[in-house]
Amino acid sequence: MTTSTVLQAAIDTSARTGRAKVVVVIQQKGGTGKTTIAINVAAVSGRSAVLSNADESVGAPVVAAGIDIQGSIEKWCARVEDKRQREALPFDYLVTKSKVGILPAVVNDPERHRVIVDTPGFFDVDPDAEWDADPIGTGRSADALREVLEVADLAIVPITPSRMSWDEAEYTIERVLKPRGIRFLVVINMHDPSKDKSETQLDKLKAWIDERNYPRVSHPIRRYTIHENAHENGTLVTEYKMSGTALNAREDFMRVALTMEQML
Ligand SMILES: Nc1ncnc2c1ncn2[C@@H]1O[C@H](COP(=O)(O)OP(=O)(O)O)[C@@H](O)[C@H]1O
Ligand SMILES: [Mg+2]
Repeated sequence: MTTSTVLQAAIDTSARTGRAKVVVVIQQKGGTGKTTIAINVAAVSGRSAVLSNADESVGAPVVAAGIDIQGSIEKWCARVEDKRQREALPFDYLVTKSKVGILPAVVNDPERHRVIVDTPGFFDVDPDAEWDADPIGTGRSADALREVLEVADLAIVPITPSRMSWDEAEYTIERVLKPRGIRFLVVINMHDPSKDKSETQLDKLKAWIDERNYPRVSHPIRRYTIHENAHENGTLVTEYKMSGTALNAREDFMRVALTMEQML
């Protein structure tokens, strides 16, 4: 079976019970790929869910939601829609711009199956907070983040081979996710197959994650130039022009989506 058919089976929308499952993409450090991952996981999941869902009259089973004040998901998706001449995206999107009360309604909407939430890096985190205190802080985006965490069934924590994001990933897991009992999945993003040919850097990072017993997606998301301008160009991994790289890139996100489904 291909990853695509396995994913389709995993995301069978007829199997839905109760409210939608909420997956939050979270990592204090910016630039690690949160938005890229949230959008593309929604795209591959949404495509599989649409394919396996016979009833087309209902809203999209997968929703990508953004809580940042800038509403970056909206701009990306609007560009995709422009290019597709309003042909429907494989998912619905929503931006709350940090307003509370919107997300819970979507989560309880019976048409929704998965809600993938993109979060901003939380900059107002208090570095001097007591070990057992909540470090998220106060303010509009802190409240928005807290609201997401209250309903989150799983967190995806991106980490990059550059050491810069390792401590932040650990902090996010140990200080924000574990105290709330939120299950999490670490995903390595931006592994560069051309620069790290012998995978020395990749293996170092895998060992660091495994030492901590953090569950992780077995394969990394590779660094490809096509991802870099996807936001500006309004493209999704599901519609990259066919090439070996595009197939690899799509496969990377399908693996993340599949591992996510297995944990839900
Ligand atoms: N796998 C990847 N390969 C190449 N570029 C990537 C990859 N993942 C993310 N990027 C790029 O890195 C930058 C930061 O990604 P982004 O998703 O905006 O991170 P965050 O939301 O965590 O700040 C963006 O320019 C994005 O296009
Ligand atoms: Mg972002």
